[in-house]
Amino acid sequence: MRISVIGCGYLGAVHAAAMASQGHDVIGIDVDPVRLGALREGRVPFHEPGLEQLLSEGMSAGRLRFSTEIADAATAQVHFVAVNTPQRLGGDEADLGYVEAALRSLAPHLAPGALVVGKSTVPVGTARRLAPLLAGRAELVWNPEFLREGHAIDDTLRPDRLVYGVGDEPESAERARVLLDEVYAPQLATGVPRIVADRETAELVKVSANAFLALKISFINAVADVCAATGADVNLLADAIGHDARIGRRFLGAGLGFGGGCLPKDIRAFGARAAELGEDAIGSLLREADRINLGRRHRAVELLRTALSSQPGAATSVDGGGDLRGRRIAVLGLAFKPDSDDIRDSPALSVATELALLGAEVVAHDPHAVPKVRIARPELTCVDTADEAVVGADAVLVLTEWREYRELDPAALAATTPARLVLDARNCLDPAAWRAAGWDYRGLGRHEQPVGALVA
Ligand code: NAI
Repeated sequence: MRISVIGCGYLGAVHAAAMASQGHDVIGIDVDPVRLGALREGRVPFHEPGLEQLLSEGMSAGRLRFSTEIADAATAQVHFVAVNTPQRLGGDEADLGYVEAALRSLAPHLAPGALVVGKSTVPVGTARRLAPLLAGRAELVWNPEFLREGHAIDDTLRPDRLVYGVGDEPESAERARVLLDEVYAPQLATGVPRIVADRETAELVKVSANAFLALKISFINAVADVCAATGADVNLLADAIGHDARIGRRFLGAGLGFGGGCLPKDIRAFGARAAELGEDAIGSLLREADRINLGRRHRAVELLRTALSSQPGAATSVDGGGDLRGRRIAVLGLAFKPDSDDIRDSPALSVATELALLGAEVVAHDPHAVPKVRIARPELTCVDTADEAVVGADAVLVLTEWREYRELDPAALAATTPARLVLDARNCLDPAAWRAAGWDYRGLGRHEQPVGALVA
C-alpha cells in the first residue's frame, strides 16, 4: 500500500520505518527541516534502539523516503497523522493546533478514496470535531498508538492490540476497517486482538490506558511513603501484591515517578476534557496522581539533603536540611526513562536542575540524553562516563534506571569516592551489594537496613 506518515518524531519516524519494513511504500512528512534532513540521510535525530537499522533498510529498498512537502504525500491511500499534541501553554488542555494544521495542509492533496488516520493522542471528540477540515474529501478515523519509547519498534511490529475508531456511516466505516486491516495484515496474521470501535471510544482508550498507568505508579509511590515511615520495604511489597494476577507487578516500580512527552500531559488533558464535559471525578483522581508524582522529585532532593546532613562534619541549612552549596553530586541518568534520550518533563532532569539551583556542584551522566541536555540546560556539567561523574562525589544519585547503572560495580566505585553515599531514586540497585561494598545505601521506601538483619 502507499502510505504517508505526517509528523516524523518519536512516534511517526518509527511508524514510517515499521510500515516500510512490512512492504508498504511509505513517505514521511515533517515541517521541521532539521529533523527531516537527518532522516533523509538515514540518521535518527533521537535515540530509539534498532530504528537506524530499520530506517536504512527501508530507504535502501526504495520503500521509505522523507519530504517537507505535504504535496509529496498526494498519492498515498492511507495517511497517518502523528504530529505532536503538547500541553497548551498556561493550561492543562491539549494543544490541537498541530493536528489541525496537518489536516488543513493535507486536505487539498487527498486522492479520491484516501483514508486519513489520526495516531496522535487527542481528547475525546477531536476526530468528530476536526473531520470537516478534510472538506468531505476523505474519511477521518482514529487509530491510537500505544508504543513505548525504548521498545517502539517491537511495540509497533508486535502490538498488544490494535484499536480502530471509525465513523458512524456503516459503509465508510467498513471501508476504513478493510484499509487498516490491509495496512496491519502482518500483525493481524499473528492473531493480535483488534478492537473496532467508534472514534470517541478509540480516543478514550488511549487516554484511559495512560491514566491507569499513571494512577498505578502514583499509587505505589504513595504506598512507598508509608513504607518509609514504618520501615517496610516497597519493593518487597510490590513483588508480593504483583503476584495477584488482578494487580500485576508491572508499573509498580516505586521511585521518582513518571515523566516524558506523554503521561503527564495526557492525564492533564484528560482531566481538562472531562471537566469540559461536566465530569470531574476522573479529573480529581488524576490531579492527585499528578500531585503525588511531581512531589517525588522534591522528596528525592529532601532525602539527599537529610542524608548529607547526617554525614560527619556536614553543614546544615536554615531549615535544618543538609546544605548543598559546594557539595559535589554525581547524577546518574537524565532521560525520563531508560533506553530513550527523551528529556521532555524528565523527573531526572528536574531533580538535577533543582540541585544545581540549591548550589550543588552537579556532575551528570546519561548514556544518550547528554546532547539534548547540553542544549536545554547548558548550566549542568555533563561527563562521558558514570565513573567520571562518581569520582570524588559527596553523593551519588541514580535518577534513571539505565541497565549500565544497575550493573555498576559498587566496590570499584567505592575506591573513587570517600563519601560513599548513594541515593537510588529508582530503587533499581541491589542494596545488599552496595552496602557490602561500604556504601550508605538509601532508596525511596526501601529498608534502611539489610532484610537479613531484620529477619534475624
Ligand atoms: P514529537 O514532537 O517527537 O514529533 C512530532 C513531529 O510532528 C515533529 O517532528 C513536528 O515537527 C511534526 N509536525 C508538527 N506539525 C506538523 C505538520 N503540520 N506537518 C508535518 N509535521 C508536523 O512527538 P511524538 O512523541 O512523536 O508524539 C506525537 C504524538 O503521538 C503525540 O500526540 C503523542 O502524545 C503521541 N504518542 C507518542 C508516543 C511516544 O512514545 N512518543 C507514544 C504514543 C503516542
